Amino acid sequence: MISATSSGLQGDVSVPGDKSISHRALMLASQVLGSTRITGLLEGEDVLRTAEALRRLGVDVQRVGDGAWEVHGVGAGGLHESEAVLDMGNAGTGARLMMGLVTPYPFTTFFTGDPSLRSRPMGRVMTPLSQMGARFVARAHDRLPLALTGTESPLPITYRLPVASAQVKSAVLLAALNTRGKTTVIEREPTRDHTENMLEYFGIGVERRREEDGALAVTLSGHQNPARAERSLTVPGDPSSAAFPLVAALIVPHSRLVLRNVCVNPLRTGLFDTLKEMGARLTAVNERRIGGEKVADIEVESSTLRAVRVPAARAPSMIDEYPILAVAAAFAEGETAMEGIGELRVKESDRLSGIIQGLRACGVEARAEGDTLFVTGQKQPRGGALISTRLDHRIAMSFLVMGMASQQHVTVDDAAPIATSFPGFPALMNALGARLSERTPTRTLPLVVAIDGPAASGKGTLARRLAAYFGIAYLDTGSLYRAVGLRLAYADADPRDIGAAIRAAQSITYEDLANPRLRQEHVGKAASIVSAQPEVRAVLLDFQRRFAASGQGAILDGRDIGTVVLPEARFKFFITATLEARARRRHRELQGQGVEVIYDSVLKDLRERDERDAAREIAPMKPAEDAFIIDTSKHDADSVFDQVRRLIEERLEQPEQRIPA
Ligand code: DC
Repeated sequence: MISATSSGLQGDVSVPGDKSISHRALMLASQVLGSTRITGLLEGEDVLRTAEALRRLGVDVQRVGDGAWEVHGVGAGGLHESEAVLDMGNAGTGARLMMGLVTPYPFTTFFTGDPSLRSRPMGRVMTPLSQMGARFVARAHDRLPLALTGTESPLPITYRLPVASAQVKSAVLLAALNTRGKTTVIEREPTRDHTENMLEYFGIGVERRREEDGALAVTLSGHQNPARAERSLTVPGDPSSAAFPLVAALIVPHSRLVLRNVCVNPLRTGLFDTLKEMGARLTAVNERRIGGEKVADIEVESSTLRAVRVPAARAPSMIDEYPILAVAAAFAEGETAMEGIGELRVKESDRLSGIIQGLRACGVEARAEGDTLFVTGQKQPRGGALISTRLDHRIAMSFLVMGMASQQHVTVDDAAPIATSFPGFPALMNALGARLSERTPTRTLPLVVAIDGPAASGKGTLARRLAAYFGIAYLDTGSLYRAVGLRLAYADADPRDIGAAIRAAQSITYEDLANPRLRQEHVGKAASIVSAQPEVRAVLLDFQRRFAASGQGAILDGRDIGTVVLPEARFKFFITATLEARARRRHRELQGQGVEVIYDSVLKDLRERDERDAAREIAPMKPAEDAFIIDTSKHDADSVFDQVRRLIEERLEQPEQRIPA
């Protein structure tokens, strides 16, 4: 999926139901006697797996409308052995909580999941459930598939969580529902308390007590028969899903959004707090309670963000939000530090490395030191990369948001996993003003294309369209020389001053390349002077090669790309046209811009520039030996693009031809 730069996001939306709460709603409703109607349920892959698993355990679970479900609770003790393996898909929450649910039953349940879930550790939940009486047979390193044999006489335990985990706490509490006596879970750091809130909502008493050392002890007595259980439950909007349109609105200029019914449980709002510290214009209004949870409407506008240090203590309240926070940090002034996030390495994917690689591919500086992630922001990062999502929905959405505000569009290799937490994300974002589009995958990457040719040959237009089509980054190398010229002009330095020119070349950034003044006539002239200096070319050569290697492929256009900058590029094109054809185009272009100029002088300028570019000693303009030469004198931009695109695609389909990186 491609995400192109948006010119502004506007609207009023509801995000899908909270994922954590949706899993719990189905499971807890199955444990109270009688039927419960659930509305606003997240109908993502993960939650559907939980519904299916409950059905297999003998619970009547029906979908009765859009996000509306009816669960006929069997009460504590009412589950039956499943005939088949429970496939929990991608859901860590579903798998771990379900293990708690079946622990107090004297039968065996088999669990598996998708490749990502099968690689995640289950030991942390197996330990306390074993203490309660469950027995496990699992793969090496406590991974799925595994078999859990429960017990008729589970033991109440007191368990101190070794790592902050709401999933482990909830698994123990779910097992405790059907265990005689008092079970206590003690957490040193606070974790999500949706299970506790919902238990109370259903009329099941939970005691929360502060220990002397500040830890929180949560105690549940089993076999309670709630006097009057609530018969309906509305799932509030997921703050982790709201995070994506929210950050998009912050970084895309001219945006303003209202996000309705978002869960603002204080244990989930770490991202909102952090963004506010960064200067985000974000307000929660209309606070109220739904289904035992605090909810609000969130108003957000485009904002100028600055870097902050995010303390480790905040990680539990925003563990899923770091990928999108890292994207916000890429647009903030300064270096943001996110501390204590080692846990990200064992999420749906190794999210830490996914974030770093993705940001780097987009031209953003990012690195991890120990458990801290550092991201250096820019006004408008380059983007222009293909991101590998590794089956991770949050990485996919984060980088699609990145593309909405980057200079160049961002492509993610697989948008399908988004449905696990945010079904309808592309349609919802596009309705607000995003530009997400699907493209059939296939092409072998990285794809490096070199395009050279004289001024006004149409090479820039062609390069830009190819980059958009193939989803790779584009660099107009002429703008590098122009940026050097412009820096010299700002410093009032002579373009022939080699020392000054070298220093200017060394300090070029991507932001320089977005300056509209680059197109000015006197800047072009200075560019042509500095471009004849070998030292300046050497500095810019390095910049160009790093650009070509940084992403998942790139298109560069200029005069010496195929011959000097990227002689190993798989595809080289030399785009040319007769002097007259080019002069006519340029003349028309200038007239279109309201510039009064006579054709003859345009012709003369172009002839002089050609001569200068072709005659200079260093890197003269000429086609590489293996370049395709395309004369555009008699063709329009569309037919040139089609011809080149087809040529590239035909060759890419020949498997024996390797593309040099
Ligand atoms: O394509 P343009 O007009 O923006 O290029 C500006 C100047 O930079 C032009 O005089 C040629 C020079 N140039 C170069 O020497 N090598 C390149 N790869 C690109 C541009």
